[in-house]
Amino acid sequence: MKTQVAIIGAGPSGLLLGQLLHNAGIDTLIIERQSPDYVLSRIRAGVLEQGMVDLLREAGVGARMDREGLVHDGFELAFDGRRERIDLKAHSGGKTVMVYGQTEVTRDLMDARQASGAPTIYNASEVQLHDLKDGQPSVTFVHQGVSQRVSCDYIAGCDGFHGVSRQAIPEGVLREFERVYPFGWLGVLADTPPVNHELIYANHERGFALCSMRSPTRTRYYVQVDAGEKVEDWSDERFWDELKRRLPDETAERLITGPSIEKSIAPLRSYVVEPMQYGNLFLLGDAAHIVPPTGAKGLNLAASDVNTLFRILLKVYREGRTELLERYSEICLRRIWKAERFSWWMTSMLHRFPDADPFSVRMQQTELDYFVSSAAGRCTIAENYVGLPYEDIE
Ligand code: APR
Ligand code: PHB
Repeated sequence: MKTQVAIIGAGPSGLLLGQLLHNAGIDTLIIERQSPDYVLSRIRAGVLEQGMVDLLREAGVGARMDREGLVHDGFELAFDGRRERIDLKAHSGGKTVMVYGQTEVTRDLMDARQASGAPTIYNASEVQLHDLKDGQPSVTFVHQGVSQRVSCDYIAGCDGFHGVSRQAIPEGVLREFERVYPFGWLGVLADTPPVNHELIYANHERGFALCSMRSPTRTRYYVQVDAGEKVEDWSDERFWDELKRRLPDETAERLITGPSIEKSIAPLRSYVVEPMQYGNLFLLGDAAHIVPPTGAKGLNLAASDVNTLFRILLKVYREGRTELLERYSEICLRRIWKAERFSWWMTSMLHRFPDADPFSVRMQQTELDYFVSSAAGRCTIAENYVGLPYEDIE
């Protein structure tokens, strides 16, 4: 088998890159370890930056998002007994975010890929990458008991944090930066109307809480839990009680509870690998970086990596600009580090850390107070939340 770009992983990064390249007439093969149903069963975040919304439209997969997604002009910060609204639109020159679940984005991309006839191999095992630096790169895998090899020009490693692509890079090439936070998020999905028409991020002495949503009838709520907590120890009743205790009184009184459809605990981590390229292999999305979910940046960073690699590959195939390939990593990392900073800052400001003394608690409250009391502070939060601009590829 032969293709131009072999894409490892059919998560949002791999599928979006595949769609954009396919539309541009560049051949791709996507190789995914899991089944389509398994990929769609993962519940992840649900806030899309303007740049990602535009990219999905450009890829021709924005129709359902535009019909069913919820455009949000702002969100709320609750702390110290206060509720403060950040007006995203007013403080970012008119930008907004779109609330539309990652699962739905993935479903739309899968449907578009199937309709386009471009090939995806699901349930591939023993995926291995070869000849990344010298000679012609190739990927081998086993599918339905048969060993296969696909040779290609480039490999896009879109296989998430635990994938093979990053591990295929020889030792000593990559530098890793990591912070593991001493807590996780317990998330519940429920068919209940949202407690508020916008998201609420709450700093509370019992720990962080977030009220989010997927639609006018489906909610996604989170509470901070200690690292090592087990989801089995959290009945629905215990979850709702804890959530209510962390919300401002008038919000807690309005909260409508119901049976959970999904409940899981996610650890919080910041992680970046440098560089994001090795020879003809490029890392995208979770394969190269992780952010804690507090700024809703994970999926959006994946989209900006896709945007960068797509624009570079267009110029490579159409204009022979192969020198641009060397710039992929530096262009991505500039934006990634800024999103890492914002996610780390939101996480640091809103969670209760196990070693927090009264001084650090006052510092958190004062920092939040300072930011929301100042136009510059509100602008800083807004421009990061709606997403910093994508760099042009000249
Ligand atoms: N071979 C082939 N596919 C693999 C392999 C492998 N060895 N290992 C993992 N995969 C697949 C996974 O099954 C998954 O479908 O790669 C895909 C990676 O998808 P994601 O983890 O969703 O990563 P990505 O597409 O980069 O999405 C960005 O943003 O908010 C975050 O974590 C969130 O998933 C989200 C991410
Ligand atoms: C979500 O809806 O799952 C969500 C929203 C905002 C975040 C994180 C997760 O910051």
